[in-house]
Amino acid sequence: MKYPLINGVLAFVLFSFTAALPIASANNNTVTFPANFTWGSATASYQVEGAYQEDGKGVSVWDTYTNQHNISNGDTGNVAIDQYHRYKEDIALLKKLGIKSYRFSLSWARLLPEGTGKVNQAGIDYYNNLINELLANDIKPAITLFHWDYPQALANQGGWGNRKSIDWYTNFAKLAFQSFGNRVDTWITFNEPYIDLMIFEPLIGNRIHPTFPAPPNHPFELPNAVMAKQATKTHHLMMANAKAIQTYRSLGYKGQIGITLNLSPVYAATASTQDFKLSKIEDGIMNRWFLDPALRGAYPEDIKALYEHYAPMKIKSGDLAFLKANRGDFIGINYYSPLRVGADAQSVHFGLKIQPNPNQWKAYNGESYPDGLYELMRRIDTTYNHPAIIVTENGAGYGTADDTLVDGQVHDALRIAYLKDHLVSAKKAIDNGVNLKGYYYWSAFDNFEWLSGYKARFGLIHVDFATQQRTWKDSATAYQQIITNNGF
Ligand code: BGC
Repeated sequence: MKYPLINGVLAFVLFSFTAALPIASANNNTVTFPANFTWGSATASYQVEGAYQEDGKGVSVWDTYTNQHNISNGDTGNVAIDQYHRYKEDIALLKKLGIKSYRFSLSWARLLPEGTGKVNQAGIDYYNNLINELLANDIKPAITLFHWDYPQALANQGGWGNRKSIDWYTNFAKLAFQSFGNRVDTWITFNEPYIDLMIFEPLIGNRIHPTFPAPPNHPFELPNAVMAKQATKTHHLMMANAKAIQTYRSLGYKGQIGITLNLSPVYAATASTQDFKLSKIEDGIMNRWFLDPALRGAYPEDIKALYEHYAPMKIKSGDLAFLKANRGDFIGINYYSPLRVGADAQSVHFGLKIQPNPNQWKAYNGESYPDGLYELMRRIDTTYNHPAIIVTENGAGYGTADDTLVDGQVHDALRIAYLKDHLVSAKKAIDNGVNLKGYYYWSAFDNFEWLSGYKARFGLIHVDFATQQRTWKDSATAYQQIITNNGF
């Protein structure tokens, strides 16, 4: 079933009607998932926890960005949705939603205020309480070790540019495994290194101390030389990923561990050879640059050559073999939209321009194109030797047209359509042999949306950011029904 997003009002009426249909019985499903499929939803520490200076927590770079540099329209994650204090209420809502697994991330600086060294017991206690409460409600915790809130103390020592960052991260990961590994069997080492190191760090760094003109067309269109400078940092991160995986296994834990990447199929805007070539470059920058080291222990030569034109990468002998020997148990995919690219001689970003979103109803994270999820998973399945895949994020927000609270209700029909369309695509991938184990909707709750602050909502559950009141959206009901019926 497919809801044509571009058909405007007609489609909107159809979505609303569809959303209001009674629960279909499992036998009436048109889309049914495997019996052991993991239905989940996700958040991240900086986006939900708040309590930014409580109980001994250290400072993260996001505390600095938002409090000292006004990077998110004046909004901060200081309170966020206050999950630090409201986790019991939130877990009760997740239980009602019916999810089997909750993906959340650890605030590194809450556990290790200086990034290394002294452990903050209150931080350990908080995550122990969260995990125990989830388990008491039959929800499996899935921990993301790192979702962007890097300890400021380590950033001050060069962050991922410093090769010591591999050991800093591994020590943090080991602390987490030894503290929580007896109750947590799904671990995600990193969330979206591309967005963290190739986009946000240079983009935000440039807003604070401008060295190049802000990308006028699309935030991903950073200058070649700027991205090239980040390449060694991404290598250190990939080494840290492999080392954490090795450590997890060497400690004897039997759960699953992998990395989560944001991936987008990249299409040429026209049939020209030039656009086709440029689409391969953008694909290399965004997708292959991370998939290849994670899943086959190598960097794509075409992109490495582009980066090394500006600065040689610091890869030590033995590094690539180490990456290859420590591949994760699964690959986590965050999928929101594809990219369409065309030649632009003026562009400082590899001579290409990212095309505007063609949809009538525009989601925050770009074009809604459910087939892209299917294509992506099939490609990973065939190119990288059939890995287990988990969709660790997929979701949408469309602004007030879809997300307004009126009389205690949010009729977010576009979000429901987005969810169902992507699940159809996910099921098609399973039917075609992809080893897809689970799906986590982003996000369980409206929360702090990075550079957009509180202006962009992705949640199944509405949060009034002034009162912290939580309200069930129609999409929460829809997802609850899908989980109950293991399909729709
Ligand atoms: C990130 C989330 C973010 C979501 C929606 C993903 O890139 O992992 O932290 O909130 O997209 O923009």
